[in-house]
Amino acid sequence: MKTIHLGTPIPGPRSRELMRRRNAAVVHAAYHATPVFVAKAEGAVIEDVDGNRLIDFAGGIGCLNTGHRAPAVLEAVRRQLDRFLHTSFNVLPYESYIALAERLNAITPGKFAKKTVLVNSGAEAVENAIKIARAYTRRAAILSFEDAFHGRTYMAMALTSKTHPYKAGFEPFPGDVYRVPFAYCYRCSYSLTYPSCEVHCARHIEDTFKRVVAAESVAAVIVEPIMGEGGFITPPAEFFPILAEICHKHGILVIADEVQTGFARTGALFACERLGLEPDLIVMAKSLSGGLPLAAVTGRAEIMDTPGIGGLGGTFGGNPAACEAALAVLEIIEKENLCARANCLGERFRKRAAQWQSRWELIGEVRGLGAMQALELVRSRATREPADEETKHVSQYCYEHGLVTITAGSYGNVIRLLMPLVITDAQMDEALDVLEGGLQTVSEKKREATAQPV
Ligand SMILES: Cc1ncc(COP(=O)(O)O)c(C=O)c1O
Repeated sequence: MKTIHLGTPIPGPRSRELMRRRNAAVVHAAYHATPVFVAKAEGAVIEDVDGNRLIDFAGGIGCLNTGHRAPAVLEAVRRQLDRFLHTSFNVLPYESYIALAERLNAITPGKFAKKTVLVNSGAEAVENAIKIARAYTRRAAILSFEDAFHGRTYMAMALTSKTHPYKAGFEPFPGDVYRVPFAYCYRCSYSLTYPSCEVHCARHIEDTFKRVVAAESVAAVIVEPIMGEGGFITPPAEFFPILAEICHKHGILVIADEVQTGFARTGALFACERLGLEPDLIVMAKSLSGGLPLAAVTGRAEIMDTPGIGGLGGTFGGNPAACEAALAVLEIIEKENLCARANCLGERFRKRAAQWQSRWELIGEVRGLGAMQALELVRSRATREPADEETKHVSQYCYEHGLVTITAGSYGNVIRLLMPLVITDAQMDEALDVLEGGLQTVSEKKREATAQPV
């Protein structure tokens, strides 16, 4: 039996009515990838307010690796609801915060003593990681990368690369942030080709220290092991070992932003493990807590303990229900072997994507690790001109046919996969059929538009 069920056109009448109310009451800037309003969700399936059933390839932007309403998460939250909802860890502490910190200290990469602070969102965790790095090193400058995304608060915006819609109009940003090219081999900033480039982008950071900012002024490099919003840009194996060696040599901390890559998405608990990186600090959020707002910074104990008492924290950071949910998430990932599952899903996608690539010029590159996979769409393989409009059309075709996808990339031409890892094989295949339909429809339209009249 098929999972997707469409009883109305998408969006249906109730979704359209809610969109009218939404437009009158909610800010224009809070964007939606689809015009579909949700009624309920389970696993990898969404039911909308018109009774349509869709498959979810977005997972609330990568927050639902363990699926919508994972039973063990619901159970853990329900138990907490019967005890207390909020005291603020800064006023009356509770055990689940400590238990989660202990777990994160144990499972994050690096066999050294660690400590953790819990906050509410990815951006807030990024802000805290920068505060901690500056406090420890007593240096100001931060290096971040082209195509990076670290959130929407002011420091996170300064660290973020993409101008529209994230930065334009919100200037000025906090200073002492310097941007260097990432290993985006498909669009190399130095116009080089891997592997003959010898990973010039990583080595060139030494040059940055001569021409842009002195190494001894740099507190930290912040980097997503695989760029998320940037378009699932996956660096070659040599990139992080070279970067880490340079940072180590100059006493610069490495902060890994695993907000999108974390918690089994890439076929390991953290992408750093797959890419040979042992960061000093690691930033986590999204799938950490199965759909509740929670984020964390975990790192070397001596670094994490630099800020003075009261220097870190906040009213809601480490909410008890969210902590219980996160402990349940970590257990599910282990018990259900979701890292292995991520690799199976990634391979299933890769097989299909290889066929699509052989059929349609539109698919410039297929990339990613584990289930963190993406398609970069181009107008021509020769020019690599970003196919941004075409990407929007594929995404629209998908939701109109019952598959929720989200796009990415500095040029808006990447379709990324962030489905719950508990999706069944049948649902995965059904979803890929829809995506294939979208790619085929857009490719054929393009071919018709460019065909010469006889
Ligand atoms: C890598 C990365 N860092 C930080 C953030 C910001 O997280 P939040 O939206 O929870 O503030 C995101 C969000 O997409 C992200 O992908």
